[in-house]
Amino acid sequence: MVDKYAVIGNPVAHSKSPLIHEAFARQTHQNMTYERILAPLDGFAATIQDLITKGYKGVNVTVPFKFEAFKVAKGSTVRALEAGAANTLIFNADGVIADNTDGVGLVNDITKNLHQPLTGKRILLLGAGGAAEGVLGPLLESGPDLLVIANRTLDKALAMKNKVELEQGHLITTVSACTFSELQDQEFDVLINATSAGLTDAALPIPDSVFASDCLAYDMMYGRETPFMAQARANGARVADGLGMLVEQAAEAFYLWRGIRTETLPVIEMVRAL
Ligand code: ATR
Repeated sequence: MVDKYAVIGNPVAHSKSPLIHEAFARQTHQNMTYERILAPLDGFAATIQDLITKGYKGVNVTVPFKFEAFKVAKGSTVRALEAGAANTLIFNADGVIADNTDGVGLVNDITKNLHQPLTGKRILLLGAGGAAEGVLGPLLESGPDLLVIANRTLDKALAMKNKVELEQGHLITTVSACTFSELQDQEFDVLINATSAGLTDAALPIPDSVFASDCLAYDMMYGRETPFMAQARANGARVADGLGMLVEQAAEAFYLWRGIRTETLPVIEMVRAL
C-alpha cells in the first residue's frame, strides 16, 4: 500500500509542499503520495480524525492551524512544546505526535546552505508572533552571544523573552526585548524578519545602522522582495528570502516520517525556478 501524507491549511492552494515532498520521494525512491487538503476553519480536528481513519501516516500543517495542531496531538517534541505550535504531525500506533520543524529549517538554511555561522553572533529577530516564536528555541540552541527580539508591540517581545528564559533556565545567550526605535545604537551579524509586514509591503521602522558589515539579512517570507530586504540590500547586507527555510523544514518533516535525509539544494533550485 502507498503511504499517504498531506498538507492541511486554509487557504492551501498556494502551498508548494506537495512539489517539495514529491521531489524528495523521487530522490529517495519512496512509495508515497502527498496532497493538499483544505480544512474548514472550524473543522481541523475532524479533518485529522478523518485522515487517520483513512490510513494517512502524517501531515504538515500550515496557516491558520499550527496552534490547533499542537493541541490535538497526544504527545509532542520539545521543539513543538517550546513553540506552542506544530507544523508536522506524525500518526502512529500511539496516536498523534506533534513536532515543529520550522526553527531547525531556518537554522539549517542559514548555517548549511548560506554558510553563515550563528554561534557567537549577534542576532536580531524582528517580530514576536507565531512565526518568530516557532524559531526562537532552535536559534538559541545554535549558541549566539546576543539575541534581541524587536517588535512593534513591546509586550509581545517581552513575553517571548520571559517565556524562553523560564523554559531554558541558564542561557549562554543574552536575550533582550525592545521596540524598533530602541535599536538605534546596536548592530547585528544576522537579522531575521519574522514579521508579516512584508505581506502588505509595509516597511519596518528600523535604523540603517543595525546592519553590521558582512551581515546576513534573512526574510522568512519568499516569493517577493520585501521592504526589509530592499533596506538590507541598500545597506550592503547579504540578503536571503525564506525559500530555503521552506525546503529545509520539509526535509526535516520528511526525515521524521521516512527516516531518510534528503538533498535539499537541488529542490531549492527547482522551486526557485518555477
Ligand atoms: P505570524 O504567524 O506570521 O507570526 P502573527 O502571530 O499575527 O503572525 O504575528 C505577526 C507579527 O508581524 C507580529 O510581530 C506583528 O507585530 P505586532 O505584534 O506589533 O502586531 C508583526 N507585524 C505585522 N505587520 C506589521 C507592520 N506593518 N509593522 C511592524 N510589524 C508588523
